[in-house]
Amino acid sequence: MAARAESAQGPATGEGPATGEGASRGARGAGRSSRAASSPLAADAAAMSDSPIMKALAQDHARRRELEGLVLDAPETTRILTVANQKGGVGKTSTTVNLAAALAMGGLNVLVIDVDPQGNASTALGIDHHAEVASMYEVLVESRPMAEVVQPCPDIERLWCAPATIDLSGAEIELVAMVARENRLRGAIRDFLADHAKSGAERLDYVLIDCPPSLGLLTVNALVAAREVLIPIQCEYYALEGLTLLLKNIDLLRAHLNPELVVSTILLTMYDGRTRLASQVAEDVREHFPEQTLETTIPRSVRISEAPSYGQTVLSYDPTSSGALAYRAAARELSLRTAH
Ligand SMILES: Nc1ncnc2c1ncn2[C@@H]1O[C@H](COP(=O)(O)OP(=O)(O)O)[C@@H](O)[C@H]1O
Ligand SMILES: [Mg+2]
Repeated sequence: MAARAESAQGPATGEGPATGEGASRGARGAGRSSRAASSPLAADAAAMSDSPIMKALAQDHARRRELEGLVLDAPETTRILTVANQKGGVGKTSTTVNLAAALAMGGLNVLVIDVDPQGNASTALGIDHHAEVASMYEVLVESRPMAEVVQPCPDIERLWCAPATIDLSGAEIELVAMVARENRLRGAIRDFLADHAKSGAERLDYVLIDCPPSLGLLTVNALVAAREVLIPIQCEYYALEGLTLLLKNIDLLRAHLNPELVVSTILLTMYDGRTRLASQVAEDVREHFPEQTLETTIPRSVRISEAPSYGQTVLSYDPTSSGALAYRAAARELSLRTAH
């Protein structure tokens, strides 16, 4: 059952008393299953926890309390994660920007590198990326230092972004003729981190790279530059189909270009607890990747999809929404795990 993944998150998400829909209101007194029912909402939710909506409400309530003022532990060294999946629309960009925001709000220094020519991550972070702005195109193709293109995110402290502009769509072709074409981003990040350290600025804790929906040279650059891969998987029927190809490519890269690369994290996105399909997909993924799959799943949430049109992450757009809370819980989980 997919709910098992979430039961660790909050007191009210476990097995509630078996109440039918109509009986649930009258079952409020059945507080025995509510281990920490310290508010009427939690007690209510526990009594009606059979319903996915109530389960989600109770989980949000518990999460809000758990995550309040939470400061995340910094990793020993800068963690570089590439968020990849050659399928489009699986939640790569949403995951990149919202996890980054959650990590930054947890007190960590975070850089997002946008290597998708569509520049969706740059948009969601409120970063200027019209055609004249210096971007990852200049870094990858013209060897411009990354420090010259990095911009601070306007409404979240400790969060920066190296934006993508539409120019980057040409980079895929221009890179083909270049020396060490797969290593351009790796070199740029290494130089950036070294200069950053020399400047005496606070160390960056996380670098998250948002990829285009393909396995072309931009994605290859991102996979060569990172130590870890984070794969968002949308909880739908074909979820696992493209994964074999992605994993095969990652194996090839590990063999030839980046021996350290590991798929450290899998995140289930757009999870809809009301559908059996979503829980089946989640179960399947957990069975195949028990170590990598985060306990936290990201729910389907209108707030997550609305936020980018305001140039915001869901964490600033609606910080108490279930989507924001889920990304904060995922960030906490990520920060507690080390790459293996
Ligand atoms: N958890 C979610 N709930 C609802 N909509 C989502 C969620 N995650 C992403 N979306 C929406 O789905 C679409 C694809 O997501 P996106 O993060 O851009 O995927 P990708 O970068 O893999 O193409 C976007 O319109 C986005 O706003
Ligand atoms: Mg995207």
